[in-house]
Amino acid sequence: MTFEKTILCIGAGYVGGPTMAMIASQCPRCRVTVVDINPERIAAWNSDNLPIYEPGLDELVRATRGRNLFFSTDIEQGIRENEIIFVSVNTPTKSFGLGAGMAADLQYWEKTARQILEFSESSKIVIEKSTLPVKTALAMERILNCQENGIHFDVLSNPEFLAEGTAVRDLEHPDRILIGSRETDNGLKARQTLVDIYASWVPKERILTSNIWSSELSKLVSNAFLAQRISSINAISALCEKAEADVTEVSRAVGMDSRIGPKFLNASIGFGGSCFRKDILNLVYLCRNYGLDVVADYWESVVKINDYQQERFIRNMLGAMFNTLAGKRICLWGFAFKANTGDTRESPAIFIARRLLEEQAEIVVSDPKALGNARTDLTGVRGQIRYVEDPLQAAEGCHAIALLTEWDLYRNLDFPKIFDSMAKPAFIFDGRNILDHRRCFDIGFNVYPVGKPPLTHFLEER
Ligand code: UDX
Ligand code: UDX
Repeated sequence: MTFEKTILCIGAGYVGGPTMAMIASQCPRCRVTVVDINPERIAAWNSDNLPIYEPGLDELVRATRGRNLFFSTDIEQGIRENEIIFVSVNTPTKSFGLGAGMAADLQYWEKTARQILEFSESSKIVIEKSTLPVKTALAMERILNCQENGIHFDVLSNPEFLAEGTAVRDLEHPDRILIGSRETDNGLKARQTLVDIYASWVPKERILTSNIWSSELSKLVSNAFLAQRISSINAISALCEKAEADVTEVSRAVGMDSRIGPKFLNASIGFGGSCFRKDILNLVYLCRNYGLDVVADYWESVVKINDYQQERFIRNMLGAMFNTLAGKRICLWGFAFKANTGDTRESPAIFIARRLLEEQAEIVVSDPKALGNARTDLTGVRGQIRYVEDPLQAAEGCHAIALLTEWDLYRNLDFPKIFDSMAKPAFIFDGRNILDHRRCFDIGFNVYPVGKPPLTHFLEER
């Protein structure tokens, strides 16, 4: 079969893999190849055991793999043979030198640009899929177009807005597709090529085009705004706990204002995930770099509130459990950074587990999809840790349950049975406010939600 377009994606991660599977599924006349430097990842993409868990992804990959979707480690050949190249390699926070802990580490990004230059035998469209600091496309253009050999590269920015756990749905029905380009003839032509690919399944009015810097910046700003809403409600949850208000009632009342809207107003133990923290710090670094310190401080406070919220959760546990956790066994329900994913990157559970171990508590980690990652995250951390998938077994003999991920399965467990199996007094700290608190209290638990008055059986607190 001859294909109308040939597409390569460098980086077979959480973004590259699902996004390319969707393009392959929606555009049968495009051949899509995904390459990665990590051979185990590629082997997993080629197996029945995909490297990431995402509802609907198995079916999508099964329907397209070997038809017009291919996974390979041959980056050189991939670059040579394809006309459109997405770059979706990771851009973590820099851990060394200038900007350490804040700026994006662009080494994989630049290395990939140089590989594209080295192996290309014809002109190509190169698309930034990774989230990058504004003006990165300029560096990419300068590297790619540094040779006078008749080969020309057009660089586009096409940030990905999918959320984990709903990646397949988000890719199929995106709120918007954003494509930034140079406003030159070549730039506009390249942009149209990408618009045509997405137009196979995305309604035209949802495909936005813009200048390339706006596109790069919009991704950072979208994530910053989303995280800011969470930090705003989490900040208010601290006040609710003091003022005997209920943060769920407050967020419902606030969110019913159509100008504010109801989404992303759930108080929690804080946001996790690979993007929010990294992207905000990146934005903060950019602002400081441009001398905009007041703007930088404003956005940095979103991360500070997130750290504060996680530490506050531990302090509430300590306070409730008579100021000592030493020797107590605490069960963690959930380790993933959100429900419906096995991903634990930047999960608040990592911080909470470490802090509990510092307090010399024993922990039992439970999660339906993330136990493998949890083990890796806690490797080398001192203290008593057990991993038990079944939430009932995990809670047996524990002094407290800390609910850290909003998995549906925790909502309707046999709570009387769980209560009976635990040490007394038994505590539940609901870090996601998903349980029926009154019911748990009636069973005998001392219940500590986020941003609501606790329900306890201790006389002095009633
Ligand atoms: C990544 C970025 O972290 C994020 O900023 C961006 O928005 C999208 O791409 P994600 O897909 O979640 O997000 O990252 P990850 O799952 O770590 O995947 C990146 C892949 O790139 C890895 O499989 C890694 O092996 C691969 N890679 C990295 C390369 O193929 N070549 C490299 O030089 C470096
Ligand atoms: C986010 C963005 O939503 C997505 O558009 C972008 O492409 C990548 O970053 P993701 O990190 O996968 O996606 O998950 P998201 O649903 O945004 O949740 C992030 C964190 O915020 C999770 O830890 C989640 O539990 C937390 N959260 C979310 C809250 O604490 N309260 C809320 O109301 C919503």
